[in-house]
Amino acid sequence: MKGEIVLEARDLSMHFGGVHAVDQVNFALWDNELRCLIGPNGAGKSTFFKCLTGQHVPTHGDVVIRDVHVAGREPHQIARLGVGIKTQVPNVFDGLSVEENIWLSARRWHKAQRAKVLTQETLERLALGDIRSAIVGTLAHGQRQWVELGMVVAAEPWLVLLDEPAAGMTHEEVETTAELIREVNKTATMIVVEHDMQFIRMISNKVTVFHEGRILIEDTMDVISADERVREVYLGHKSQ
Ligand SMILES: Nc1ncnc2c1ncn2[C@@H]1O[C@H](COP(=O)(O)OP(=O)(O)OP(=O)(O)O)[C@@H](O)[C@H]1O
Ligand SMILES: [Mg+2]
Repeated sequence: MKGEIVLEARDLSMHFGGVHAVDQVNFALWDNELRCLIGPNGAGKSTFFKCLTGQHVPTHGDVVIRDVHVAGREPHQIARLGVGIKTQVPNVFDGLSVEENIWLSARRWHKAQRAKVLTQETLERLALGDIRSAIVGTLAHGQRQWVELGMVVAAEPWLVLLDEPAAGMTHEEVETTAELIREVNKTATMIVVEHDMQFIRMISNKVTVFHEGRILIEDTMDVISADERVREVYLGHKSQ
């Protein structure tokens, strides 16, 4: 259903000693959205992300995913709700082929027959067919990231959370990644944490800017890039 809030952070805080990495954040994500989270280094993006995925137990507040209160739940319990997660740390099996990696992910959630179909579909959707037999450990950085995205997609999540999916990529790889993310968004609501402003322009219309653990502004990319405060805290940092 369109127009429904599918994920909410309510008064969410995550403190590490005196560091308020996430501080009283209220956030809502609507069905089918492709939302980007941006902000300078240390703004709290990954910490916020980890509170959504179960990697952190928030100090205060709650996360609600389709009416389920998930704060304090384990990552695998959140994944079971149909949430696909790609963290900043790579999570592929280097010794296995592209196809085997994707199959393993599909098989984790589906019967063998269905996993086979999903594996083929995913290889096609993410244009990984040509490298299906390649050993993942031998691939270029960008391709490894796409395999990981394939592993997320093969589980058929309705919600996909990605932390810096284009980090360290060449411009060409970034463009491909933007296309793949738009493809994934056809069947899943998404949150993408990202640094690269050009990349964000390619994929998103609504952007949430974090600064010092709080949401500074939430709007379209056009409004955000013209905003004086954003220029100071984020674009200012970038252009230096
Ligand atoms: N496990 C931790 N223990 C202590 N402090 C932490 C921990 N994780 C993050 N922090 C601190 O919380 C703040 C927010 O960090 P976070 O990694 O969420 O920022 P970020 O916006 O993802 O930055 P980047 O763009 O560099 O990935 C920083 O001051 C960081 O040093
Ligand atoms: Mg981060």
